[in-house]
Amino acid sequence: MELKIVIFAIKDVEILAVTKTPYGFMPDGKEVFSFNIKNSIISVDILTLGATLDKLLVKDINGVYRDVVLGFDDLSSRLQFSDYHGVTVGRYCNRIKDGRFKLNSKEYTLPKNENGITCLHGNDEYSNAIWECESYDDKSITFTYFSPDMTNGFPANLNNRVIYSITDDGNFIIDFLCIPDAETVINLTNHAYFNLNGIASGTVLNHDFIMNAAYFTPIDQNSIPTGKIASVKGTPFSFIEGKKLGEDIDGDDIQIKNGSGYDHNFCINDYDGTLRTAAVIKGDKSCIKLTIKTTLPGFQLYSGNFLSGAIGKSNYPLDKRTGFCFETQFYPNSPNNPCFPSSVFTPENPYKSTTVFSFSTN
Ligand code: BGC
Repeated sequence: MELKIVIFAIKDVEILAVTKTPYGFMPDGKEVFSFNIKNSIISVDILTLGATLDKLLVKDINGVYRDVVLGFDDLSSRLQFSDYHGVTVGRYCNRIKDGRFKLNSKEYTLPKNENGITCLHGNDEYSNAIWECESYDDKSITFTYFSPDMTNGFPANLNNRVIYSITDDGNFIIDFLCIPDAETVINLTNHAYFNLNGIASGTVLNHDFIMNAAYFTPIDQNSIPTGKIASVKGTPFSFIEGKKLGEDIDGDDIQIKNGSGYDHNFCINDYDGTLRTAAVIKGDKSCIKLTIKTTLPGFQLYSGNFLSGAIGKSNYPLDKRTGFCFETQFYPNSPNNPCFPSSVFTPENPYKSTTVFSFSTN
């Protein structure tokens, strides 16, 4: 495959580069590209399809690079097997109950793409879109996507921008900016499946998790939040003191059963729209530590319960719980829950969020 060098820059003694590589063609003939940005400690590949985080290489305790996101070696496997691996999800990530919501007394009807019951991940619009690369340099890449009014039943034209950046101290940063031309609901996230031990290294059940969340939103059997905000104290959902992801994952708990493991929204303590620590997670084999900070009120901890053996990178099966998703977000089904932080935005007050993934081995 031809490698097209787009830019080279020399900074100190490191050679930094941005590359753009043809990645394949969609069934309708549209071409997909992969962009890479890297510095001496982090290397990130992003696809124009879904503005997808395809690879994220960081050094382990021995200085060896490990790819810490699950995915695929080529486009055809991705198209065949992906369960939102690394994609940008929008316009409304996670679930909206019964595929409907009201805004200013007007009801909007959405596709019920999950078993005919709920609207999941905005009916895959953003994850299946080919995003435009608007600009890039050796530290960041910006992608845009325009979603027309009433796409999948959501009101307002929406201009979306995602900026992926890396820093010399091991940060990978995702900034979203979505400007509607009328009032609407917006909720974007990235759906990477992380395995901090690297791809092809078993389950994530022995990863150490500390989470800055004293409350979570319990779900019903269709994984819709019941509307309650419940304390994690004394439940399998308490990671405040720190524990292995797998410690209580198969416990006899109705919420664990409803999610088939962890598949719940957690409420970040003292949310105020500024960057707050959501979690510190460590891979037991690599000692790679990931600290996640976000300006958003919540995150979906999804423990990869429904991964079922599709063939992923290096022909390694993407089995149950070989990755976890940490989807920073507004709470699922917020448009139908006035008590949740509002996910309604306007041209004057557009949607903005920042999530910082910091990698280290200390
Ligand atoms: C949902 C899971 C779902 C997964 C892949 C997560 O955001 O919460 O229930 O299986 O996405 O679709």
